[in-house]
Amino acid sequence: MKKIASTYIFLSLFLTGCNYSMLKESSDERAAKFGLPGDKISELSYSMINHRIFFPRCVACHGAGTNVNLETYAGVVSNLALIKKAIFQDMSMPKQGSLSVEELSYLWNWINLGAPEQAQNGNLSPAPESILPTYDSINTHVFMSSCKDCHNPNGSGKRILFDKESLLNSPLELIIPGNPDESGLVIAIERMDDKRMPPGKEGYSQLKDEDKLAIRKWIENGAKD
Ligand code: HEC
Ligand code: HEC
Repeated sequence: MKKIASTYIFLSLFLTGCNYSMLKESSDERAAKFGLPGDKISELSYSMINHRIFFPRCVACHGAGTNVNLETYAGVVSNLALIKKAIFQDMSMPKQGSLSVEELSYLWNWINLGAPEQAQNGNLSPAPESILPTYDSINTHVFMSSCKDCHNPNGSGKRILFDKESLLNSPLELIIPGNPDESGLVIAIERMDDKRMPPGKEGYSQLKDEDKLAIRKWIENGAKD
Protein backbone atom coordinates (compact mmCIF):
# COMPACT_ATOMS: atom_id res chain seq x y z
CA MET A 1 0.00 0.00 0.00
CA LYS A 2 2.82 2.35 1.00
CA LYS A 3 4.60 1.51 -2.21
CA ILE A 4 1.56 2.29 -4.30
CA ALA A 5 1.13 5.62 -2.55
CA SER A 6 4.72 6.65 -3.12
CA THR A 7 4.53 5.55 -6.74
CA TYR A 8 1.46 7.70 -7.08
CA ILE A 9 3.24 10.70 -5.55
CA PHE A 10 6.22 10.15 -7.78
CA LEU A 11 4.03 9.92 -10.86
CA SER A 12 1.96 12.96 -10.02
CA LEU A 13 5.09 15.04 -9.42
CA PHE A 14 6.42 13.75 -12.68
CA LEU A 15 3.25 14.55 -14.54
CA THR A 16 3.04 18.08 -13.17
CA GLY A 17 6.30 18.78 -14.88
CA CYS A 18 8.91 18.57 -12.15
CA ASN A 19 12.21 17.41 -13.52
CA TYR A 20 14.60 14.96 -11.97
CA SER A 21 16.78 17.38 -10.04
CA MET A 22 13.71 18.96 -8.43
CA LEU A 23 12.60 15.54 -7.24
CA LYS A 24 15.98 14.94 -5.64
CA GLU A 25 15.95 18.24 -3.86
CA SER A 26 13.78 18.99 -0.83
CA SER A 27 12.42 22.49 -0.37
CA ASP A 28 14.73 22.87 2.68
CA GLU A 29 17.72 22.13 0.53
CA ARG A 30 16.56 24.61 -2.02
CA ALA A 31 15.96 27.28 0.60
CA ALA A 32 19.52 26.70 1.88
CA LYS A 33 20.94 26.96 -1.61
CA PHE A 34 19.16 30.22 -2.37
CA GLY A 35 19.52 31.66 1.13
CA LEU A 36 20.38 35.35 1.46
CA PRO A 37 21.47 37.32 4.53
CA GLY A 38 18.80 39.55 6.07
CA ASP A 39 20.28 42.81 4.84
CA LYS A 40 20.20 41.52 1.27
CA ILE A 41 16.60 40.38 1.70
CA SER A 42 15.63 43.87 2.83
CA GLU A 43 17.18 45.33 -0.34
CA LEU A 44 15.04 43.26 -2.69
CA SER A 45 12.77 45.43 -4.79
CA TYR A 46 11.39 45.35 -8.30
CA SER A 47 13.95 47.85 -9.55
CA MET A 48 16.82 45.84 -8.12
CA ILE A 49 15.58 42.60 -9.70
CA ASN A 50 14.80 44.40 -12.94
CA HIS A 51 18.30 45.85 -13.13
CA ARG A 52 20.02 42.62 -12.32
CA ILE A 53 17.81 40.10 -14.08
CA PHE A 54 14.80 41.07 -16.17
CA PHE A 55 16.36 43.94 -18.06
CA PRO A 56 19.75 42.39 -18.91
CA ARG A 57 18.65 38.76 -19.18
CA CYS A 58 15.04 38.61 -20.37
CA VAL A 59 13.76 41.83 -21.96
CA ALA A 60 15.55 41.34 -25.29
CA CYS A 61 13.02 38.54 -25.97
CA HIS A 62 10.25 39.58 -23.58
CA GLY A 63 9.60 43.24 -24.41
CA ALA A 64 6.30 45.08 -24.60
CA GLY A 65 4.00 43.48 -27.17
CA THR A 66 5.30 39.94 -26.57
CA ASN A 67 3.22 37.25 -24.88
CA VAL A 68 5.23 37.35 -21.69
CA ASN A 69 6.02 41.05 -21.22
CA LEU A 70 8.79 41.42 -18.63
CA GLU A 71 9.51 45.07 -19.32
CA THR A 72 7.24 46.53 -16.64
CA TYR A 73 6.39 45.73 -13.02
CA ALA A 74 2.77 45.03 -13.99
CA GLY A 75 3.93 42.65 -16.71
CA VAL A 76 6.24 40.78 -14.36
CA VAL A 77 3.63 40.52 -11.61
CA SER A 78 0.98 39.19 -13.95
CA ASN A 79 3.41 36.50 -15.15
CA LEU A 80 4.87 35.60 -11.77
CA ALA A 81 3.62 32.03 -11.66
CA LEU A 82 4.90 31.35 -15.17
CA ILE A 83 8.26 32.91 -14.33
CA LYS A 84 8.63 30.76 -11.24
CA LYS A 85 7.78 27.69 -13.25
CA ALA A 86 10.03 28.52 -16.20
CA ILE A 87 13.06 29.39 -14.04
CA PHE A 88 12.88 27.07 -11.04
CA GLN A 89 10.84 24.14 -12.25
CA ASP A 90 11.28 23.65 -15.98
CA MET A 91 14.64 25.48 -15.97
CA SER A 92 13.88 26.49 -19.52
CA MET A 93 14.61 30.25 -19.20
CA PRO A 94 16.55 32.34 -20.06
CA LYS A 95 16.73 30.81 -23.50
CA GLN A 96 20.43 31.54 -23.90
CA GLY A 97 22.72 30.68 -21.00
CA SER A 98 21.45 30.36 -17.46
CA LEU A 99 21.21 32.53 -14.38
CA SER A 100 24.00 32.40 -11.80
CA VAL A 101 23.27 31.06 -8.32
CA GLU A 102 23.41 34.64 -7.07
CA GLU A 103 20.82 35.80 -9.62
CA LEU A 104 18.65 32.78 -8.83
CA SER A 105 18.87 33.59 -5.13
CA TYR A 106 17.74 37.16 -5.62
CA LEU A 107 14.87 36.13 -7.85
CA TRP A 108 13.80 33.24 -5.64
CA ASN A 109 13.72 35.33 -2.48
CA TRP A 110 12.05 38.26 -4.19
CA ILE A 111 9.25 36.06 -5.53
CA ASN A 112 8.85 34.43 -2.11
CA LEU A 113 8.51 37.84 -0.50
CA GLY A 114 5.53 38.44 -2.79
CA ALA A 115 7.46 40.32 -5.51
CA PRO A 116 7.47 43.68 -3.69
CA GLU A 117 7.83 46.81 -5.79
CA GLN A 118 9.54 48.59 -2.93
CA ALA A 119 12.35 47.21 -0.78
CA GLN A 120 11.77 46.60 2.94
CA ASN A 121 14.51 49.13 3.65
CA GLY A 122 12.48 51.70 1.71
CA ASN A 123 14.88 51.95 -1.19
CA LEU A 124 12.99 52.39 -4.46
CA SER A 125 15.81 53.80 -6.50
CA PRO A 126 17.57 51.67 -9.07
CA ALA A 127 21.00 50.28 -8.36
CA PRO A 128 23.21 53.18 -9.46
CA GLU A 129 25.65 51.04 -11.41
CA SER A 130 23.03 49.75 -13.87
CA ILE A 131 22.15 51.32 -17.19
CA LEU A 132 18.57 52.15 -18.19
CA PRO A 133 17.11 52.72 -21.68
CA THR A 134 16.96 56.51 -21.31
CA TYR A 135 19.14 59.23 -22.81
CA ASP A 136 20.47 60.41 -19.45
CA SER A 137 21.46 56.96 -18.32
CA ILE A 138 23.07 56.09 -21.66
CA ASN A 139 24.87 59.41 -21.66
CA THR A 140 26.35 58.76 -18.21
CA HIS A 141 27.18 55.11 -18.75
CA VAL A 142 28.33 55.18 -22.37
CA PHE A 143 28.86 58.52 -24.09
CA MET A 144 30.64 60.25 -21.21
CA SER A 145 32.76 57.28 -20.30
CA SER A 146 33.54 55.58 -23.63
CA CYS A 147 33.04 58.14 -26.40
CA LYS A 148 33.81 61.61 -25.11
CA ASP A 149 37.60 61.18 -25.41
CA CYS A 150 37.21 61.66 -29.18
CA HIS A 151 33.63 62.84 -29.68
CA ASN A 152 34.04 66.31 -28.24
CA PRO A 153 34.35 69.63 -30.09
CA ASN A 154 38.16 69.35 -30.19
CA GLY A 155 38.55 65.60 -30.67
CA SER A 156 39.11 63.40 -33.72
CA GLY A 157 35.41 62.50 -33.73
CA LYS A 158 34.13 66.10 -33.49
CA ARG A 159 31.84 65.61 -36.49
CA ILE A 160 29.68 63.42 -34.27
CA LEU A 161 28.63 64.76 -30.88
CA PHE A 162 26.46 63.05 -28.31
CA ASP A 163 24.53 65.78 -26.60
CA LYS A 164 20.86 64.93 -27.09
CA GLU A 165 20.22 67.68 -29.66
CA SER A 166 23.12 66.72 -31.95
CA LEU A 167 22.50 63.02 -31.61
CA LEU A 168 18.79 63.13 -32.47
CA ASN A 169 19.25 65.56 -35.37
CA SER A 170 22.42 64.17 -36.90
CA PRO A 171 22.37 64.09 -40.73
CA LEU A 172 24.09 60.71 -40.38
CA GLU A 173 20.78 59.30 -39.06
CA LEU A 174 22.42 58.11 -35.89
CA ILE A 175 18.98 57.64 -34.35
CA ILE A 176 15.92 56.49 -36.26
CA PRO A 177 13.23 56.29 -33.58
CA GLY A 178 11.60 52.88 -33.52
CA ASN A 179 14.22 51.40 -35.83
CA PRO A 180 17.39 50.41 -33.98
CA ASP A 181 18.59 48.11 -36.78
CA GLU A 182 19.07 51.02 -39.16
CA SER A 183 20.19 53.63 -36.66
CA GLY A 184 23.80 54.68 -37.28
CA LEU A 185 24.60 54.60 -33.57
CA VAL A 186 23.55 50.96 -33.22
CA ILE A 187 25.37 49.99 -36.42
CA ALA A 188 28.53 51.70 -35.16
CA ILE A 189 28.59 49.88 -31.80
CA GLU A 190 27.44 46.47 -33.07
CA ARG A 191 29.53 46.06 -36.22
CA MET A 192 32.47 43.69 -35.85
CA ASP A 193 34.90 45.15 -38.41
CA ASP A 194 37.58 47.81 -37.84
CA LYS A 195 34.98 50.60 -38.02
CA ARG A 196 33.38 49.48 -34.77
CA MET A 197 32.97 52.13 -32.09
CA PRO A 198 34.65 52.66 -29.77
CA PRO A 199 37.62 51.77 -32.00
CA GLY A 200 39.46 48.56 -31.17
CA LYS A 201 42.60 49.72 -32.91
CA GLU A 202 42.86 52.55 -30.39
CA GLY A 203 42.69 50.02 -27.59
CA TYR A 204 39.03 50.42 -26.69
CA SER A 205 37.05 47.26 -26.02
CA GLN A 206 33.52 46.90 -27.34
CA LEU A 207 30.57 48.04 -25.26
CA LYS A 208 29.02 45.60 -22.80
CA ASP A 209 25.95 43.70 -24.02
CA GLU A 210 23.91 45.46 -21.35
CA ASP A 211 24.91 48.87 -22.79
CA LYS A 212 24.14 47.83 -26.36
CA LEU A 213 20.77 46.49 -25.27
CA ALA A 214 19.89 49.70 -23.41
CA ILE A 215 20.70 51.76 -26.53
CA ARG A 216 18.63 49.45 -28.71
CA LYS A 217 15.70 49.58 -26.29
CA TRP A 218 15.85 53.36 -26.00
CA ILE A 219 15.66 53.73 -29.80
CA GLU A 220 13.01 51.03 -30.10
CA ASN A 221 10.89 52.93 -27.57
CA GLY A 222 11.12 56.04 -29.76
CA ALA A 223 14.25 57.69 -28.25
CA LYS A 224 11.98 59.97 -26.21
CA ASP A 225 13.00 59.87 -22.54
C1 HEC B 1 16.63 34.54 -26.35
C2 HEC B 1 15.25 34.78 -26.05
C3 HEC B 1 14.73 34.60 -24.65
C4 HEC B 1 15.30 35.03 -23.48
C5 HEC B 1 16.62 35.74 -23.27
C6 HEC B 1 14.35 34.70 -22.44
N1 HEC B 1 13.24 34.09 -22.97
FE1 HEC B 1 11.59 33.48 -21.97
N2 HEC B 1 10.78 32.77 -23.69
C7 HEC B 1 11.36 32.89 -24.95
C8 HEC B 1 10.49 32.26 -25.93
C9 HEC B 1 10.75 32.17 -27.41
C10 HEC B 1 9.37 31.77 -25.23
C11 HEC B 1 8.15 31.11 -25.84
C12 HEC B 1 7.82 29.76 -25.50
C13 HEC B 1 8.91 28.74 -25.34
O1 HEC B 1 9.70 28.48 -26.28
O2 HEC B 1 8.93 28.15 -24.24
C14 HEC B 1 9.59 32.11 -23.83
C15 HEC B 1 8.70 31.80 -22.80
C16 HEC B 1 8.83 32.25 -21.50
C17 HEC B 1 7.85 32.08 -20.47
C18 HEC B 1 6.52 31.39 -20.62
C19 HEC B 1 6.71 29.94 -20.33
C20 HEC B 1 5.41 29.18 -20.37
O3 HEC B 1 5.42 28.10 -19.78
O4 HEC B 1 4.46 29.67 -20.99
C21 HEC B 1 8.33 32.69 -19.35
C22 HEC B 1 7.65 32.79 -17.99
C23 HEC B 1 9.64 33.20 -19.67
N3 HEC B 1 9.91 32.93 -20.99
C24 HEC B 1 10.44 33.86 -18.77
C25 HEC B 1 11.71 34.31 -19.06
C26 HEC B 1 12.57 34.95 -18.09
C27 HEC B 1 12.20 35.24 -16.65
C28 HEC B 1 13.71 35.26 -18.76
C29 HEC B 1 14.95 35.94 -18.20
C30 HEC B 1 15.53 35.37 -17.00
C31 HEC B 1 13.58 34.81 -20.12
N4 HEC B 1 12.35 34.24 -20.26
C32 HEC B 1 14.55 34.97 -21.09
C33 HEC B 1 12.55 33.49 -25.25
C34 HEC B 1 13.44 34.01 -24.33
C1 HEC C 1 39.56 56.92 -30.04
C2 HEC C 1 38.61 57.87 -30.56
C3 HEC C 1 37.15 57.47 -30.61
C4 HEC C 1 36.38 56.94 -29.61
C5 HEC C 1 36.78 56.59 -28.20
C6 HEC C 1 35.05 56.81 -30.16
N1 HEC C 1 35.01 57.24 -31.44
FE1 HEC C 1 33.44 57.24 -32.68
N2 HEC C 1 34.56 57.99 -34.17
C7 HEC C 1 35.88 58.37 -34.06
C8 HEC C 1 36.32 58.96 -35.29
C9 HEC C 1 37.71 59.52 -35.57
C10 HEC C 1 35.23 58.91 -36.18
C11 HEC C 1 35.16 59.42 -37.62
C12 HEC C 1 34.75 60.87 -37.53
C13 HEC C 1 34.44 61.46 -38.88
O1 HEC C 1 34.06 60.73 -39.79
O2 HEC C 1 34.56 62.71 -38.97
C14 HEC C 1 34.14 58.28 -35.45
C15 HEC C 1 32.89 58.06 -35.98
C16 HEC C 1 31.81 57.62 -35.24
C17 HEC C 1 30.47 57.47 -35.76
C18 HEC C 1 30.02 57.71 -37.17
C19 HEC C 1 30.21 56.45 -37.94
C20 HEC C 1 29.91 56.57 -39.39
O3 HEC C 1 29.71 55.51 -39.97
O4 HEC C 1 29.95 57.68 -39.92
C21 HEC C 1 29.70 57.05 -34.73
C22 HEC C 1 28.21 56.76 -34.77
C23 HEC C 1 30.53 56.93 -33.59
N3 HEC C 1 31.82 57.28 -33.91
C24 HEC C 1 30.09 56.51 -32.35
C25 HEC C 1 30.93 56.35 -31.28
C26 HEC C 1 30.45 55.91 -30.00
C27 HEC C 1 29.00 55.58 -29.68
C28 HEC C 1 31.53 55.84 -29.18
C29 HEC C 1 31.56 55.42 -27.77
C30 HEC C 1 30.85 54.21 -27.43
C31 HEC C 1 32.68 56.25 -29.95
N4 HEC C 1 32.27 56.55 -31.20
C32 HEC C 1 33.97 56.31 -29.45
C33 HEC C 1 36.67 58.22 -32.95
C34 HEC C 1 36.27 57.67 -31.76
